[in-house]
Amino acid sequence: MAMAKLRCPKPELRFSVCLLLLLLLLLPQLSLLSSTYTAPDKYFINCGSDSNVTAGGGRIFVGDEKPGSLALSTGKSSSVNDASSSSAASPLLYQTARIFTTPSSYDLEIDQNGTYMVRLHFYPFSSRKNLFDAQFSVSASRFPLLSNFSVRNTSTSPVIKEFLLPNISAGKFRIYFTPQEPPLAFVNAIEVFVAPDDFIPDSATHVTASGGNSKLGGLLSHAFHPVHRINVGGEILTADNDTLWRNWVPDDEYLFSSEAAKNSRRSDPPNYQDGRADKYDAPDLVYNTAKEMNTSSDRDYDFFNITWRFGVDKNARHLVRVHFCDIISKSVNDTQFNLYVYSNFSKVIDPYEEIGHLAAPFYYDLVVESDNSGIMNISVGPRNGTHVQTAFLNGLEIMELIQESGSVPDENESSKNYLLVIVGSVVGGVALLISLAVVFLLCFKYRKAKPVEVSDWLAIPLFGGMRSPGESRERTATVSRSPVCNLNLGLKLSFADIQYATNNFDMKLLIGEGGFGKVYKGTLRSGIKVAVKRSQPGHGQGFPEFQTEITVLSKIRHRHLVSLIGYCDERSEMILVYEFMERGTLRDHLYGSNRDNEKSTVSFELSWIRRLEICIGAAKGLHYLHSSSDICIIHRDVKSTNILLDFHFVAKVSDFGISRLGPLDQTHVSTVVKGTFGYLDPEYFRCLQLTKKSDVFSFGVVLLEVLCARRPISNLLPAEEINLAEWGLSWHKKGELEKIIDPLLVGKINPNSLRMFGGIVEKCLREYGVDRPSMHDVLWDLEYALQLQQTARNREPHEDSTPDPSWVLPVPAFAHLPSESISISNDEIPMAGFSDSSHPSASEVFSLIKIDEAR
Ligand SMILES: *[C@@H]1O[C@H](CO)[C@@H](O)[C@H](O)[C@H]1NC(C)=O
Ligand SMILES: *[C@@H]1O[C@H](CO)[C@@H](O)[C@H](O)[C@H]1NC(C)=O
Ligand SMILES: *[C@@H]1O[C@H](CO)[C@@H](O)[C@H](O)[C@H]1NC(C)=O
Ligand SMILES: *[C@@H]1O[C@H](CO)[C@@H](O)[C@H](O)[C@H]1NC(C)=O
Ligand SMILES: *[C@@H]1O[C@H](CO)[C@@H](O)[C@H](O)[C@H]1NC(C)=O
Ligand SMILES: *[C@@H]1O[C@H](CO)[C@@H](O)[C@H](O)[C@H]1NC(C)=O
Ligand SMILES: *[C@@H]1O[C@H](CO)[C@@H](O)[C@H](O)[C@H]1NC(C)=O
Ligand SMILES: *[C@@H]1O[C@H](CO)[C@@H](O)[C@H](O)[C@H]1NC(C)=O
Ligand SMILES: *[C@@H]1O[C@H](CO)[C@@H](O)[C@H](O)[C@H]1NC(C)=O
Ligand SMILES: *[C@@H]1O[C@H](CO)[C@@H](O)[C@H](O)[C@H]1NC(C)=O
Ligand SMILES: *[C@@H]1O[C@H](CO)[C@@H](O)[C@H](O)[C@H]1NC(C)=O
Ligand SMILES: *[C@@H]1O[C@H](CO)[C@@H](O)[C@H](O)[C@H]1NC(C)=O
Repeated sequence: MAMAKLRCPKPELRFSVCLLLLLLLLLPQLSLLSSTYTAPDKYFINCGSDSNVTAGGGRIFVGDEKPGSLALSTGKSSSVNDASSSSAASPLLYQTARIFTTPSSYDLEIDQNGTYMVRLHFYPFSSRKNLFDAQFSVSASRFPLLSNFSVRNTSTSPVIKEFLLPNISAGKFRIYFTPQEPPLAFVNAIEVFVAPDDFIPDSATHVTASGGNSKLGGLLSHAFHPVHRINVGGEILTADNDTLWRNWVPDDEYLFSSEAAKNSRRSDPPNYQDGRADKYDAPDLVYNTAKEMNTSSDRDYDFFNITWRFGVDKNARHLVRVHFCDIISKSVNDTQFNLYVYSNFSKVIDPYEEIGHLAAPFYYDLVVESDNSGIMNISVGPRNGTHVQTAFLNGLEIMELIQESGSVPDENESSKNYLLVIVGSVVGGVALLISLAVVFLLCFKYRKAKPVEVSDWLAIPLFGGMRSPGESRERTATVSRSPVCNLNLGLKLSFADIQYATNNFDMKLLIGEGGFGKVYKGTLRSGIKVAVKRSQPGHGQGFPEFQTEITVLSKIRHRHLVSLIGYCDERSEMILVYEFMERGTLRDHLYGSNRDNEKSTVSFELSWIRRLEICIGAAKGLHYLHSSSDICIIHRDVKSTNILLDFHFVAKVSDFGISRLGPLDQTHVSTVVKGTFGYLDPEYFRCLQLTKKSDVFSFGVVLLEVLCARRPISNLLPAEEINLAEWGLSWHKKGELEKIIDPLLVGKINPNSLRMFGGIVEKCLREYGVDRPSMHDVLWDLEYALQLQQTARNREPHEDSTPDPSWVLPVPAFAHLPSESISISNDEIPMAGFSDSSHPSASEVFSLIKIDEAR
């Protein structure tokens, strides 16, 4: 049993912060350095693996878990392995995958302008996550590559999706994965490499169902998704046989009338001509095979065509590339024929005039608008009056055009902002030393920095309307103003995107408001629902603080913390975009607007078990803040309006951005009382000293709220009842806590569970911080209380009245395990842990142990 310790290294924290900054600085460096692993700009990534795999065509797919091989910039991801017995049979490349549960991206550093080929490999093997269920979107460089993509019905073989992205500038290239419902995305392998110059033309003949001979320009502002790639008259070609590792399939199944055509083949290499098609446009094996007219057919071959029919998206625009190489004719100028697309467009193909040599490859590009039949017809047929009545075709590619979409963060911004990295990439190793020096200088400065009062504007609750008058608006945070924090994390959104998302800040979408700005519900162009926090114009918060907050927030990913999805700092706006939490605040469900709706519907009712699960979720979030990596974050404003619920009632803690970053700094004494009245740690009142235990106290008040479904402070009540914490404690002391619980819960809580819960509350609300448990202990005990309730429900009922304690789970007796010594390790490690795996989590296991302990 892993018992990893997750504790804050208290005295060394500042040093740790320095280390963290250093790491942040070095990460992009490392990915830069590693980009030399093959030819520059060629990326072959074996996702979710730490080993290299050689795949077809001599590509070495490098494991993405090798340190520094590349950075997943944001989001939570983990790796999975093929767990099935048949896994040994599948290629190594498809035995691992990386999975994402929050919007995430791969960051690649490219150093050459040009057209890039991007290939994504998906192979849904059986693992602890059901990859067949995954539904997600992928985008890159402003192009939505895949929307609502799922491999559900294409189970048996790997799905490879290819894209051509023209006109990509050197710099950071990001591929974004956005999980949908269920929140799961995966990828087995990624290829990104630069294609030959002028691989995609900027203009081509425009063809519609009614014909067409005009040119259409501006192609380079699109991306291209090959949907058909046909080796006409030939065999299957795989990455092994192709110069750019493409797959080509034979044409036979697309042929409308198979007797109309026959295969022809040549064995000598094609006669490539300078300036025309080369082996990268299509390999020899494509140009050396063709379909030609079956002249032995007894049909009147003067008057028939060879026609292929391809399924395409209706009413979409496609780039159709037709490859020719005259391997048919005996002598030059023998053959002329027509190419048809649908019925109205025809083009004369005259290899002699076109290229002047036999067996010389060339191709034409056409932009074809598909009609609403979902079929694209392509034919070749002889022309009246030519010497030899024939027609042929060697290869064909149909690529769907993808429009640019504004909602993808612009990766080019990052390189502009991030001067140090540019320096780093130019002078390589020397820059490393410089960076080191810079970091240590900054750290030195940081050491001396005074705590600054910042970031009040971040304190707008995501939900829950105005602050109550008693609530303090003052906050502090100790932040470094150093430019090191000024990282662009690829979360940047344009102001136009925000306007689009919020319907230009439509008041109808307003879901919360405070002294510092407004919160809107919004929908990004990608369809993701978000909460948009906009600081009040003129509120005058500093940009450095804003950037610092973003840096911190974007590093924090946890299932039980509300994630930052993006931000906008255009036009002096300071806007943060968070994931949208469907069910709003916990408070609203306890005694707010949502409660009445829920009373009537059992499925939405906040049962005791659901409430415990919510408390456990919130406790996990807080525990993570208190113990994650090297930063300890004290939330400082734990309350029921800062605990949000998603559609499935999963609790997530919000508003930790204003939290105090940093050490349990005994010297830091702030001058203003922070937090929210009713939740405030009395010790903090006295000493004005912040500790993690202040959060524990506030959480204790939240627990009481959950139990009693009333406000922490209620001035309308008799004096002894005004303060929930005091009132609840007094009833707990009397052992009659059940007398003040939410009427909806009466008779539904197992007495043992309630007693356990009361005990947790009492411990959390202790006068002195040192006497209070850590969040981890609280979490543990809550899991135990849940276990008691669940066991009770399974066993039904009255266990409390019987002397026989046999209702507890029959687990082997453990010696007393003091909870202080054990830390949980289920989903607390960002990027590595995966929270809702089907393994029993460590805390579940511990719950079992604790049951015995409680006997
Ligand atoms: C994986 O491939 C990279 C690049 O080709 C190479 O630098 C590295 O040493 C390889 N690692 C292993 C374990 O083979
Ligand atoms: C890429 O193109 C930009 C202009 O679009 C140019 O400034 C830059 O030098 C080019 N970079 C390379 C590596 O060619
Ligand atoms: C993706 O799915 C969501 C809901 O599942 C739907 O609203 C949206 O229109 C879909 N988008 C596309 C491009 O199909
Ligand atoms: C996938 O298969 C299921 C049944 O197996 C079917 O109901 C569903 O429509 C299919 N989806 C697609 C996108 O083909
Ligand atoms: C072909 O073009 C003519 C006019 O140019 C039009 O009337 C006819 O409908 C077109 N055929 C198809 C299949 O679109
Ligand atoms: C290529 O992209 C740049 C911006 O990155 C744009 O200014 C230019 O017009 C594009 N070129 C073409 C041919 O679309
Ligand atoms: C393609 O490559 C594979 C592996 O090298 C080879 O076995 C196969 O014969 C090749 N196909 C053709 C058509 O040459
Ligand atoms: C060519 O046409 C003849 C006569 O219709 C037919 O017997 C033969 O099978 C066809 N050849 C092919 C390759 O389909
Ligand atoms: C070949 O197909 C085109 C388009 O369908 C049609 O216009 C033409 O008449 C056909 N030619 C023959 C000889 O059938
Ligand atoms: C090629 O053939 C066309 C007619 O099909 C004829 O007009 C032309 O003169 C020929 N050119 C040569 C060089 O033979
Ligand atoms: C495609 O071609 C076939 C055969 O020529 C014809 O029957 C069919 O109607 C055509 N479909 C379209 C959409 O043009
Ligand atoms: C082919 O040309 C001959 C004369 O050269 C003409 O009589 C015949 O109708 C033409 N056929 C077609 C399908 O155009």
